[in-house]
Amino acid sequence: LFFFLKMEESSVLRRADCRAKGGAPGFKVAILGAAGGIGQPLAMLMKMNPLVSVLHLYDVVNAPGVTADLSHMDTGAVVRGFLGQPQLENALTGMDLVIIPAGVPRKPGMTRDDLFKINAGIVRTLCEGVAKCCPNAIVNLISNPVNSTVPIAAEVFKKAGTYDPKRLLGVTTLDVVRANTFVAEVLGLDPRDVNVPVVGGHSGVTILPLLSQVKPPCSFTPEETDYLTNRIQNGGTEVVEAKAGAGSATLSMAYAAVKFADACLRGLRGDAGIVECAFVASEVTELPFFATKVRLGRTGAEEIYPLGPLNEYERMGLEKAKAELAGSIQKGITFIKK
Ligand code: NAD
Ligand code: LMR
Repeated sequence: LFFFLKMEESSVLRRADCRAKGGAPGFKVAILGAAGGIGQPLAMLMKMNPLVSVLHLYDVVNAPGVTADLSHMDTGAVVRGFLGQPQLENALTGMDLVIIPAGVPRKPGMTRDDLFKINAGIVRTLCEGVAKCCPNAIVNLISNPVNSTVPIAAEVFKKAGTYDPKRLLGVTTLDVVRANTFVAEVLGLDPRDVNVPVVGGHSGVTILPLLSQVKPPCSFTPEETDYLTNRIQNGGTEVVEAKAGAGSATLSMAYAAVKFADACLRGLRGDAGIVECAFVASEVTELPFFATKVRLGRTGAEEIYPLGPLNEYERMGLEKAKAELAGSIQKGITFIKK
């Protein structure tokens, strides 16, 4: 019986390998931090994505359990689990896209910057792995504080000689998702019909919704503008407080991460006109990194769009955002350079 089961297992693996290797078209995606609050629903949604042929799930805990669970889903992607630092290289080798939600989340009373102490080192180690094993992969960085972890990743890649600014993207999609939702509520529209550009960064006043550029075109009273800007800037804190110590946004973040990862994969495939907001290396302002709309293509963020016309309220917001962003970016750079 044991012999039969082994035979059965090896033939199953052969079929899965075949599917992963050449059969099914699709991309190879790794999630680092895949057993976490974001990682698990994100892994499930990526397992459902028809553009994904191979899904590698890496974490320092519980990766085998999450992998076993997801591997029973009858979708195309072949799922493999990787546990702990010794398996990081195997998790990353050959990947087209690496999504990183590894790291600790906020508790009430904390800022995202309070996570720097722990998450900076985690992001450094994981990005060293990316530089070594899949230097051409697109990286979607979710771990907070994004305003500092993206500069950390850039410095790690520079040190390794693999840095391509087009392939490093800080994920700010949740800000856009929230902005679309809250603006749609105020306007009485379906959120799927609303598009709000959110620029700057991913923390407090650095989150700058451009309400003057909402599609479909509309206008807001000063009170509505204040309400919406504050709600969008504090959306993360709203969830942290509601979860009361049990973490921060995970489900809406997994949704947003998949929306963004799917856009990156469609760009890699060569689809035209894929535009999303992301925190990237940029010359749009005097800062080295800034979130704006970017066009995603075969090589990553191929075009970075300017801010467009801003009203007085937004120009003031921009100055505040830049002042805070400058310090957060420098903190990340110094962490690697020191
Ligand atoms: P979580 O604690 O539920 O999960 C984090 C996972 O990372 C855990 O499974 C943990 O084992 C794993 N991990 C820790 N160290 C690791 C390492 N060295 N290598 C691989 N995995 C490691 O947290 P969460 O709620 O999933 O949040 C994760 C991060 O995402 C936090 O930093 C949070 O602030 C951030 N976040 C960002 C956004 C955004 O919009 N960019 C939104 C929500 C949360
Ligand atoms: C969010 O915006 O929900 C995340 O950045 C998590 C947090 O700490 O707010």
